[in-house]
Amino acid sequence: MNCDTYLTFALGKGRLANKTLDLLSQLGIRCDEILDKSTRKLIFVNEELKLRFFLAKGPDVPTYVELGAADIGVVGKDTIMEENRNVYEILDLGFGKCKMCVCGPESARELLQHHERIRVASKYPNIAKEYFYDKKHQTVDIIKLNGSVELGPIVELSDVIVDIVETGSTLKENGLAVLEEICPLSARMIVNPVSLQMQRERIQELVAGIRALQNKEF
Ligand code: PRP
Repeated sequence: MNCDTYLTFALGKGRLANKTLDLLSQLGIRCDEILDKSTRKLIFVNEELKLRFFLAKGPDVPTYVELGAADIGVVGKDTIMEENRNVYEILDLGFGKCKMCVCGPESARELLQHHERIRVASKYPNIAKEYFYDKKHQTVDIIKLNGSVELGPIVELSDVIVDIVETGSTLKENGLAVLEEICPLSARMIVNPVSLQMQRERIQELVAGIRALQNKEF
């Protein structure tokens, strides 16, 4: 994978980045410095392989990739759908699996049946809008929140929420349930369309390596 130009990765901070670094290390691509929790450095370089890595907030990853500041990004499908950037989704990494759902108290289930104008709280206003307006043809008021979205129906800010469900324990502990499933989610690798042309061989080699690892696992 040696080359003169750097291939730059933007990784969504947190579990996805750790899993990605794990996966890359199985391909002999290492960047140990990034694993040092005490460092305040933002960018990490593997000179030997001419690779650069940086960690970013999830919603910023598609921005870095679309604008070419990173060639490759790793981020959840939820973020890709919400940000709707011009990036090429090249690979489903198969981890970080969860679902985008409409959730709320059981009593809200019928509000979803009759095209009532309801209030929907979400960190994902675009996904919520597309689901209710385009798919269900239901006019709703969308309230953007930045976290702890489950609070919405509890404090009567909203009737339902659109959010990620992984284990379901946050819902359960707060007396809420999945009312409708929107789509399955997982971590995806995205690529800048120009980088895909300019560095096609390196990117394809990387993708083929990850695919081979995935096939070994099944
Ligand atoms: C996510 C999501 C749910 C929770 C779902 O929140 O928004 O709240 O995880 O996981 P579970 O089904 O396993 O309980 P996150 O932890 O990212 O924090 P946030 O609520 O502040 O966004």
